[in-house]
Amino acid sequence: MQVHTLRKGAPDRPPLVLLHGFPLDHRMWLDVTDLLPGDPTVLAPDLPGFGGSPTGDDVATTLGSGGDPSLDLAADAVAASLRNLGVERAVVAGLSMGGYVAMALAERHPRLVAGLGLVDTKSTADDDAARDRRLVMAETVLAEMRVDAALGMRTALLGTTNRIARPDLVDRIEGWIRDQGPAAIAWAQRAMAARPDRTEVLRSYGGPSVVVVGDEDELAPVAAAEHMAGALSDAELVVVPGAGHMTSNESPEPVAAALAGLVRRAG
Ligand code: MLT
Repeated sequence: MQVHTLRKGAPDRPPLVLLHGFPLDHRMWLDVTDLLPGDPTVLAPDLPGFGGSPTGDDVATTLGSGGDPSLDLAADAVAASLRNLGVERAVVAGLSMGGYVAMALAERHPRLVAGLGLVDTKSTADDDAARDRRLVMAETVLAEMRVDAALGMRTALLGTTNRIARPDLVDRIEGWIRDQGPAAIAWAQRAMAARPDRTEVLRSYGGPSVVVVGDEDELAPVAAAEHMAGALSDAELVVVPGAGHMTSNESPEPVAAALAGLVRRAG
């Protein structure tokens, strides 16, 4: 998998690993990285099929795993890529789909996760209706061989305020979506549809954590963030006013501050 070094920092401290949301790639983190206080090394993988990374099927072949799309496989691929870079411990933070992968890492590679950042995400599984919507999008993008069926997310990802107030952000998100391929979108939707409830993983996670959510997030709302923070033993909860699901870009300052605080706590 392609892992981008967004910043080179202190070599003797665990790096901050940032996992992107759907259907985007590592570039969604650049606004946060630009504002991040302190000097952590920042690594940002492109998840399977997105950005410069090989497809989920190719990743499965490399890892010798089974064929079905799964976020477990994405987590194993992130862990393997970090190990290849000599990283045995990292502060891992993910937004939405990236958060699902971060929770899979906490379950499957607990020694790797020195701190856990959960941004606009949720620990629960999909209900049947949400699962069906994902599978329909997966079939549609593959049948059309275009990503148009995912373009509605350019506004759905934003809060009601910024859908109107930030046309620049709508355009950037649309550009990021258009840069992804239909196979990546289909694979990720099928992987997310199959993900389990990971609330129990959070209950047994003993390291420091931060949960961040925009108060206008309609996809992973404040109640989902409170549920995760309640399950974690050492969590800080940060609610970002006037932002939707893309706090990383709608309001990057508090996200950068929250992640810097997590890095400090993870020592
Ligand atoms: C994301 O931002 O990664 C998506 O909204 C995740 C999802 O569809 O559950």
